[in-house]
Amino acid sequence: MAQPSVDLSLLEPILAEYADQKGALIPILQHAQDEYGYLPAPVLDVISERTGTPLSKIYGVATFYSQFYLHPRGRHIVRVCDGTACHVKGAARIIDELGNTLKIIPSQTTDDFRVTFEVVYCLGSCGLAPVAVVDERVVGRLTPAQMVKQVQGLA
Ligand code: FES
Repeated sequence: MAQPSVDLSLLEPILAEYADQKGALIPILQHAQDEYGYLPAPVLDVISERTGTPLSKIYGVATFYSQFYLHPRGRHIVRVCDGTACHVKGAARIIDELGNTLKIIPSQTTDDFRVTFEVVYCLGSCGLAPVAVVDERVVGRLTPAQMVKQVQGLA
């Protein structure tokens, strides 16, 4: 997948804000991700250099916390639940059908960055199983065909 180009100057105000604060790695990473949508490798290199934090530690933090993304995300995020309630109501078929439609597997993003497809394990709406969340919008009692239609409608 082609990586979008990265404007490292966007990092300067973030680094300046935390210049005098030791142990601010997590807020720096959070702000950098807010700015870029994910944590590009060149951004992590600069954060390492400027904060004096070993790159290995930065990657350790960025991979430990599920809030951080090391790859570009899609314009739309589709999370399909495969928790117990959804699984027994056919979530696996929804996941298969969506993967076939998007031509990606869960945790991947389409080549055009239109959709990131994730599988999660309970969205707290078990009564509506099977459930997905499309850009923060809960969609319940899904069929595979309805899931595909939802995603095809995303620009
Ligand atoms: S198991 Fe799917 S919403 Fe709870």
